[in-house]
Amino acid sequence: MAKAAARYACQQCGAVTSRWTGKCEACGSWNSIVEETPVDLTPKGLGAGRGRTIELVGLKGETEDAAHVPSGIKEFDRVCGGGLVPGSALLVGGDPGIGKSTLLLQVVARLAAHGIPCGYVTGEEAIGQVRLRARRLGVADTSVTLATATAIRDIVATLDKPGAPQVVVIDSIQTMYVDMLDSAPGTVAQVRASAQELIRVAKRRGLTLLLVGHVTKEGTIAGPKVLEHMVDTVLYFEGERGHQFRILRTVKNRYGPTDEIGVFDMTDRGLNEVPNPSALFLGERGQAVSGAVVFAGIEGTRPMLVEIQALVAPSSLGTPRRAVVGWDAARLAMVLAVLDARSGFTIAGHDVFLNVAGGLKIGEPAADLAVAAALVSSVTATPVPRETVVFGEIGLSGEVRPVGQTDARLKEAAKLGFARAWAPKGTRCRGAGLEVEEVARLDELVARLGERPRAKPGPGVLERSRV
Ligand code: TYD
Ligand code: MG
Repeated sequence: MAKAAARYACQQCGAVTSRWTGKCEACGSWNSIVEETPVDLTPKGLGAGRGRTIELVGLKGETEDAAHVPSGIKEFDRVCGGGLVPGSALLVGGDPGIGKSTLLLQVVARLAAHGIPCGYVTGEEAIGQVRLRARRLGVADTSVTLATATAIRDIVATLDKPGAPQVVVIDSIQTMYVDMLDSAPGTVAQVRASAQELIRVAKRRGLTLLLVGHVTKEGTIAGPKVLEHMVDTVLYFEGERGHQFRILRTVKNRYGPTDEIGVFDMTDRGLNEVPNPSALFLGERGQAVSGAVVFAGIEGTRPMLVEIQALVAPSSLGTPRRAVVGWDAARLAMVLAVLDARSGFTIAGHDVFLNVAGGLKIGEPAADLAVAAALVSSVTATPVPRETVVFGEIGLSGEVRPVGQTDARLKEAAKLGFARAWAPKGTRCRGAGLEVEEVARLDELVARLGERPRAKPGPGVLERSRV
């Protein structure tokens, strides 16, 4: 066989070149080019080393569902798809101090109370610190076992024995190291190798692994993205600083739905479940005020009502501010542009502040109409009538488009005492006992909320909206 020409591939971006260079021409990374021997996978090239034929089976067949072991903390079980799966690995990421260690200690304490042997391995704190926390959480009497360790070799040896805990917390994966590697703990190579070894022993022994992962400044789990690919479930624990509410969000789940959220309340005795988050996010609702609108949203499979607040105020800046908390800034820019271009409702020359109350982050386009209503209401100082929820997606031509799961949204609103919904055309209320007022176009919303300001809104109107 003629010797195939050598080829060189960049390990960062995959670009292939015919000669070695120190710097990849394609992605600009240094020292990433490695020689690769091309392989001939034809029967001729493989010769005697040909692969065996694999058996293809039908989609339908006898397979057991993954058995979920519920912890009894319902908000946690919900985001895991019903509970923890033996032989699986779960990663919890979040900012420092958000409550990852607290949450997982509470979870294993509950499981231990049900007779499941649980262990907690920490590389961040001393045994005494964990014990103190356990006492504070009122779980010190459970059978959870503790260890401080950072060497993966030792941890794997401990877990790979009969009688090892069935559920193990590793706090955190960034403190663990494999001694065969030169790099420091927390580096990409160490994190990857540590997780790989732990996951391997978990699969072999049928253990459940609960990994804590730190989050970088950019908000992703520190270490390679590959860590998220390796585990079965990825949860993010988030919350605004200064808010006592914490939201646990499913980002990936091989054993259940994603986009589920669990809501917790951080108290001086640990995290409490919040079974009815809508009531919490809405808080005390007194008189209707301009600029505040209740959005009937869906988080995962759960309907959730949240208040969206807008404030539009004259700006002294050349480029007015657009400050958004809990929503997408690009989406706000779009709603402002559509209001301007399709309804002649101009907010130029004004600062716009948009806030989702309670520290929740909304990703749904269904919030468009509620955001538009909050903006218009703030400018015209006309409150949206009390007991009204709003939802609908806004298209670029100013039309209000239907959204999914309207029944669930309306039912939740009715349950919390709302009487009316401003919703896209065609929305039917099937037995929720709510009056639906259809909004087919953005113009109709603007008309409902009073006069539209011409190119330059009068200062009087805006002053009134600032109450
Ligand atoms: P922790 O679980 O240590 O956070 P992480 O592991 O994500 O870094 O939680 C730290 C914060 O939680 C800390 O600021 C104190 C607060 N906390 C309470 O408010 N109540 C409690 O009962 C506990 C244990 C912690
Ligand atoms: Mg911690």
